[in-house]
Amino acid sequence: MRATLRLGLLGFGTVGKALVRLVEAESPRLSRQLGVDLRFVAVASRALPRKPTDGLPPDARVTEDLLSVATASDVDVVVELLGGLDPAGPLVVAALGAGKGVVTANKALLAARGTELARIARDQGAALSFEAAVAGGIPILRAIRESFAGDRIDTVSGILNGTCNFVLTGMARTEGGYGGVLAEAQALGYAEADPAADVEGTDAACKLALLARLAFGQEVPLEAVRTEGITRLQPVDFVYAGMLGRTPRQLGIARRLADGRLLLSVRTHLVSNDSMLASVEGPFNAVQVSTARGGDFVFSGRGAGGEPTATAVLADIVEIARRDGGSGVPPFGTEAPAPFAPAGPADSVAPFYLRFVVRDRPGILAELASVLARHDVNVDAVFQAPWSGKSALPFVVTLEPVDEERLGRALVELAALPFHVEAPLALPMTP
Ligand code: HSE
Repeated sequence: MRATLRLGLLGFGTVGKALVRLVEAESPRLSRQLGVDLRFVAVASRALPRKPTDGLPPDARVTEDLLSVATASDVDVVVELLGGLDPAGPLVVAALGAGKGVVTANKALLAARGTELARIARDQGAALSFEAAVAGGIPILRAIRESFAGDRIDTVSGILNGTCNFVLTGMARTEGGYGGVLAEAQALGYAEADPAADVEGTDAACKLALLARLAFGQEVPLEAVRTEGITRLQPVDFVYAGMLGRTPRQLGIARRLADGRLLLSVRTHLVSNDSMLASVEGPFNAVQVSTARGGDFVFSGRGAGGEPTATAVLADIVEIARRDGGSGVPPFGTEAPAPFAPAGPADSVAPFYLRFVVRDRPGILAELASVLARHDVNVDAVFQAPWSGKSALPFVVTLEPVDEERLGRALVELAALPFHVEAPLALPMTP
């Protein structure tokens, strides 16, 4: 008799549905290659579809009782696609505690409780895999853990949120329409259940914390990632970025300094139009890994959406099947993580774009320039398109490279000046 790996699915949303279709389509090939049949025996969802048979695996039992599937005696591997910390966290703990392998796409859970869950998995001899949690279909976690094991990683960076990239490239194309472009991303299944996690940067921050945890072996707290969303960008920023030969991209960057401290941020950068990152459009993600010996490597591909994410989930299931349902590769390696060593704003140096929106009157440029001069911040250029007749005047000052501690002090003073219609926006400019 052929061996069967019995799967219990928690969550039947965009990725869950895509996974069921994918397993059905690929299982003849996989069962030949693996000598193991993959079969869904149970599906649990809090919001079962109105027509419960639509897209559900034909022979699986279907329930709203999530815990019963997480701990079912006839389930070998629990696939957690609920997202969020609760109830996903307690369910994953229960599944691992019952000795089951767990495959999850839950970056928020892994970023918050990864070390604890990895310890439970190790103690139980159970697999815990989460390739789908970072950059959808791009096999970046496996690459960092296995393929770069012979080199030393210095920087991991890139476009880690497909929704933000879709919105930014959509706004660049249409010169506006933030709400409309975001709604399109949601309808296409790229966004999280609550799109605030995408546009405020926390989704990318969770992914960056996981990448840094794997690349640098330190316990990386999510709060250590300096996180800014894309919500403050306006059509005028795309106009001025165009004048600078640049375009906005949300980038996550984790860099290890020579002394081992880590600099971590998720924010909008203005990247050069001829850069590789500017050519990454729509829901695509790109992750660049810079190493001491091999140099720079780029992985790009579909970073959001049901089907690409499901391929990463299935790859984890296949890995467990290959290992005979056994413990698999330890999620973060066997060592306990090193304590987190943070770098600070003084370690972060870049040329900056400052955008101001002011109530027009004489002397504004002089006042801004005198604050910058007092903080020894060097202006590179001033851009002011003729917006005459409007009560709120937007204009841009670009800066020579400056460290963010000094820039931060100058920005506090700049923001306190009385003529702003909204707070100044500061974006780093990246080659
Ligand atoms: N909402 C995420 C994104 C999907 O837009 O990238 C995968 O994490």
